[in-house]
Amino acid sequence: MDVLHPTGKFDNHAQRYEHIEALPLAAAMGAEIRGVDLRDVTDAQFAEIEHALFRHKMIFFRQQPLTHEQHEAFSLRFGAFAEDAYTKGVPGHQNVHPLIKEAEDKSKMVFGEGWHTDSPFLPEPPAITMLRSVQVPPFGGDTQWANSALALAHLSDNYRQMISGLKVHFSLRNVLKAVHEAVEVSDSPIGRLATTRDAVTLSEDLQRKIRGNVHPLVRTHPVTGEQALYVDGAYAVAIDGMSSGESDSILNFLAPYLIQAAFTCRLRWEPDMLAAWDNRLCVHQAFNDYPGYRRELYRTTVRGERPS
Ligand code: SIN
Repeated sequence: MDVLHPTGKFDNHAQRYEHIEALPLAAAMGAEIRGVDLRDVTDAQFAEIEHALFRHKMIFFRQQPLTHEQHEAFSLRFGAFAEDAYTKGVPGHQNVHPLIKEAEDKSKMVFGEGWHTDSPFLPEPPAITMLRSVQVPPFGGDTQWANSALALAHLSDNYRQMISGLKVHFSLRNVLKAVHEAVEVSDSPIGRLATTRDAVTLSEDLQRKIRGNVHPLVRTHPVTGEQALYVDGAYAVAIDGMSSGESDSILNFLAPYLIQAAFTCRLRWEPDMLAAWDNRLCVHQAFNDYPGYRRELYRTTVRGERPS
């Protein structure tokens, strides 16, 4: 693959905001937002936070010791909760999903491992995901994102033309198989998914997620109109209407192309952070690189539209 150098298409500069401050994280994407208490966000601050989210694709806040209620309330500013494909939430908060890995968990796979956009196998995948940290390892356990709009912008005109109009079939199939091979059964989202390996027949709900859905490979952001690649290495299983050879040649190029280092940013977690990202504009991955340490985060997702 060609080595990529930042060009005029990279523009992660912060805008000058009146009610918040944005500090860009990497050349490609990401920004820290300062000057706001997420327990008490004014409408003027919220408008700038939303603008910063769409511009930087992933934003994060430090020192936000939120309760589940406050996490839910901030999430609801962006829209109704999405269907979560993996968990039923914590007691009393069905839309707050625990992502907890215990220190003694020796599973070879962690929830969110492998580059992905959240639940694209659903008909209306979540638009925005919000992750809040409570306990994090002393090192490791970072999250990494890649800017899918920037990746699209760096394709040649000819390649863009060739893929415009194509549709991707997304399915839970390969992730479920990987989970069954790698994960010990535990009381975590991914551990509970592993329990399905012993099921004689998969539930109708899992079968629905394995059948999956077909969405445009190049999608348009409903608010900003920005276009981005909508593909990943985890859930994209085929290009609709193509032979496997034709389909593989496109997916095997795009999946690694999209996540090259130049398009990424990486967050080193601290307790009481909240990160929010737009699944329509970026992909992300978690790392399983903190054996012996506990990591406790909570996630909400905001309902999205049918990709177009
Ligand atoms: C996710 O994919 O939502 C999890 C990310 C993480 O735990 O770092």
